[in-house]
Amino acid sequence: MTSPGEPLDINVDLTTQEILLAASTHNVPLLRRLLRANNTPLANPANVKDPETGFSPLHAAIAACEPDNDADEQQQQRPNGVQTNGAEAPADAEEQKSELQGGIETVEFLLREGAIWNDLDLKNETPGCIARRLGLVELYEMMVDAGVRAELLLGRLDGYEELEEDEDEDMEEGEGEGEGEVGVVAEGETETETETEAPELVATEETTTADAGADVTNPRYLDSTLTFQNDRLLDADQNGVMMAWESSIMKKSAQQLLPGPGLRVMNIGHGMGIIDTFLQELGPAEHHIVEAHPEVVAEMKRKGWAEKPGVVIHEGRWQDVLPAMVGEGVMLDAIYYDTFAESYGDFREFFSEQVIGLLEQEGRWSFFNGMGADRQISYDVYQKVVEMDLFEAGFEVEWEEFEVPKLDGEWDGVRRPYWCIEKYRLPVCKYMD
Ligand SMILES: C[S@@+](CC[C@H](N)C(=O)[O-])C[C@H]1O[C@@H](n2cnc3c(N)ncnc32)[C@H](O)[C@@H]1O
Repeated sequence: MTSPGEPLDINVDLTTQEILLAASTHNVPLLRRLLRANNTPLANPANVKDPETGFSPLHAAIAACEPDNDADEQQQQRPNGVQTNGAEAPADAEEQKSELQGGIETVEFLLREGAIWNDLDLKNETPGCIARRLGLVELYEMMVDAGVRAELLLGRLDGYEELEEDEDEDMEEGEGEGEGEVGVVAEGETETETETEAPELVATEETTTADAGADVTNPRYLDSTLTFQNDRLLDADQNGVMMAWESSIMKKSAQQLLPGPGLRVMNIGHGMGIIDTFLQELGPAEHHIVEAHPEVVAEMKRKGWAEKPGVVIHEGRWQDVLPAMVGEGVMLDAIYYDTFAESYGDFREFFSEQVIGLLEQEGRWSFFNGMGADRQISYDVYQKVVEMDLFEAGFEVEWEEFEVPKLDGEWDGVRRPYWCIEKYRLPVCKYMD
């Protein structure tokens, strides 16, 4: 261990500042030399941090592309668009274009060198958040694509890990003991770099719904005591399992799933019964409801759901209920999925293994699309990852985008706001032609 003031720390500080400066001036040749130097005192030079701002080289490279609004404003103030100093305006535009080009090349280079796409600065922004705030569309898209690549890689490695665990189960006792697991490391991360602060990643989140934090697991939730209020359903840790503000989303989802009466529908996850109420209003011939939490089941029975027209309540986890329904030959025109505290792997298993056994050829299905909704870039990354996985499972998806209500006072008494963005994207999935 070195203590402050020792030569190594000075080298570290100096090199860190040099790297950040080279990133913000878009000096790729210098960056290359600094990042690849054999004698660098840094373990992880592409992901250094400025102690005052928390900027990584990616933050610095993108922030330096901030458009010069003064120039724009001067331009706009000129009467009838007549340019009073003709030479100046095109020069500004040219300068900004070349600044942006420099930024693009620097970001490309840093990502290739292993820079982490979703590191947070001290203002809680990822590099992509800065690009979005500054209106730098091209850079924002680059960061979204970097996130998608990292998350796909994580998803694949997750798969390898599962395979390895399965193999272990088949092994003789003692065989293979002591072998390390395949590590799950995002693009550009080394084992030590995973300690770097970053928002939760798609494949490591414990939830697909964004309703729960990463520490909430499905078994823990199913064991917990619930609180039913008029406008919300909370678990024992005050996590919002379901909230009334989602009603407009549920209504539109129900309408998309049941274009007319007399259809057969299944909803997985009753919660506050909001979507089931809308589905009932649309007059389905069969209305299956799968619900795993005993208190929710008791509450729905108390409210008379078991006696409503066409309703069949299936008590238990969908993982246990659906295979039995397939065995009974149940076929459906529409399916909705909105559970709580499940992993992305669970959700992928649902659509790649269960839907096909239950949904008619012309049927449609949807899900509560809350993944990554605590920041826009995560939401955009999730959307692309899900779209690819759906495609792989044989589904095409159409998205309907609309504004959600303003949520100013909604989060009082709720452990974690799980929705922080302006627009909801409603998915409607069908079998590919
Ligand atoms: C977000 S709420 C659903 C809200 C519902 N869409 C509504 O409109 O009120 C999630 C529900 O899924 C249930 N759930 C969680 N895990 C489940 C599982 N594995 N199988 C079935 N239901 C589950 C929860 O108990 C909870 O009632």
